[in-house]
Amino acid sequence: MSQPIRVGVLVSGNGSNLQALIDASAAPDYPARISLVISNNPSAFALRRAQQANIPTIVLEHGSFATRDQFEDALLQALQKHDVQLLCLAGFMRLLSPRFLRLFRGQVLNIHPALLPSFPGLHAPRQALAHGVKISGCTVHFVDEGTDTGPIILQAAVPVLPGDDEAALAARILQEEHFIYPTAVRWVAEGAVSLNGRMVRVQGEPEFSDHALRNPGRRVP
Ligand code: GRF
Repeated sequence: MSQPIRVGVLVSGNGSNLQALIDASAAPDYPARISLVISNNPSAFALRRAQQANIPTIVLEHGSFATRDQFEDALLQALQKHDVQLLCLAGFMRLLSPRFLRLFRGQVLNIHPALLPSFPGLHAPRQALAHGVKISGCTVHFVDEGTDTGPIILQAAVPVLPGDDEAALAARILQEEHFIYPTAVRWVAEGAVSLNGRMVRVQGEPEFSDHALRNPGRRVP
């Protein structure tokens, strides 16, 4: 196998998706290694998870930079210093500027807790519940200049169940996030993912689901 690619992860909070990536990359055949974790929040639990796994961490508090450009320059410097080849946003609560994204085009991924393009932005499970959808889920996508608008790589759907509150739905979605994010990173790291405009293709042998998730699934007599 060729050298695993070097992944940087940007976090702001709990870091359960970071943990899923750390756990996946412990497998010898996983084609990516996490070489740096950067948080804009010094008290993010994600930093502890990284330290536990002996991954270098950096805190860059956006508030301590005079401008967004200066914050992002520091980000860029850190990523370059650690030779980061792929950048994964994992609960990172800042938008990256078009200038930054131009430098990292096609190399920044994000995970979002909704079936995009529905419910972009904050509190996606809350938005889904308020809308009354019967199926929600999560999406791994390339990051572009918009908020959660980039080309979609992989999605997983989960049912919305009677009695769900925001926490219950978010937890059901999060469980799928922990599966699809490491999967999508694997595909990208293997070079199996190609991008043509908005269209993402996965070469090789991904398993395509040929069954529908229906919800509610009332039995037909
Ligand atoms: C996840 O729901 C992710 O989809 C969203 O932010 C949350 C981060 O959770 N972008 P965690 O910090 O990975 O636990």
